Amino acid sequence: KYIKELKGLKNLEEEVKKVLGLKQVLLVPGGLEYSTIKQEIGRFTAKYLKGLLKDDDILAVTGGTTLAQVANAMRSTSNPMEVMVVPGRGGLGEEVEIQANTIAATIAKKIGGKYQLLHLPDNIKEENANRIVAEPSIQKTLNQLKKTNILLHGVGTAEEMAQRRGMSPQQIKALIDRGAIGEAFGYYFNEQGDIVYTTSSVGLHLNDLTNIDTVIAVAGGQEKARAIKAVVSPDYQDILITDELTARRILELK
Ligand code: F6P
Repeated sequence: KYIKELKGLKNLEEEVKKVLGLKQVLLVPGGLEYSTIKQEIGRFTAKYLKGLLKDDDILAVTGGTTLAQVANAMRSTSNPMEVMVVPGRGGLGEEVEIQANTIAATIAKKIGGKYQLLHLPDNIKEENANRIVAEPSIQKTLNQLKKTNILLHGVGTAEEMAQRRGMSPQQIKALIDRGAIGEAFGYYFNEQGDIVYTTSSVGLHLNDLTNIDTVIAVAGGQEKARAIKAVVSPDYQDILITDELTARRILELK
């Protein structure tokens, strides 16, 4: 029975991979309880990441509760790794526990690597963002970001992310009216995968993703199925890590 279930999961991975056009889809098995999905995905991703990382890698991470679970689940190692961990973007207006800075530092400490952070005020105006990148401490991190070879990022629904970042109800409505469905590192995407809104902040831009060897999106929960489909594309991502039920929901979407 176990083998049969495993085969079913592999088939499902293949189907989702084809639909999204990715190199790889990895699924956490089972009909997980809503409350444990993120934790299970975090554990799974932490293990996968540990196996992937090697000396001299530069890993960029985004924020969010899923990534916080990944950082949480990383085991401390007795063999320090020569890995640099950096936040993918800074100043998006999250609580400190789920900021990319915090997650980058936590992962770096667990693997015995180094980190460099992006200390920025939240939701800075575009003209100020342009000025702040000239700061040497910001430059230093941005230079590392340019050399990133692995990016691990979350995906959220447009509405939840807009709310979390303190947009006004009118702004949220305008965003939804424009067709925004999913969000990743400050970009809001519509059903067709086009960008309909961009948050002004500092760090990775969508174009940078094409230069990164391995881009991994990690997100689960059925309510995120549409968001995942909107955001994830072979233009940017290589790998998607999600859970079985969300994968089934993605396949049901037209
Ligand atoms: O704000 C950082 C971020 O990675 C977003 O780009 C993404 O939409 C969100 O967090 C995912 O958050 P969560 O894992 O809490 O659903």
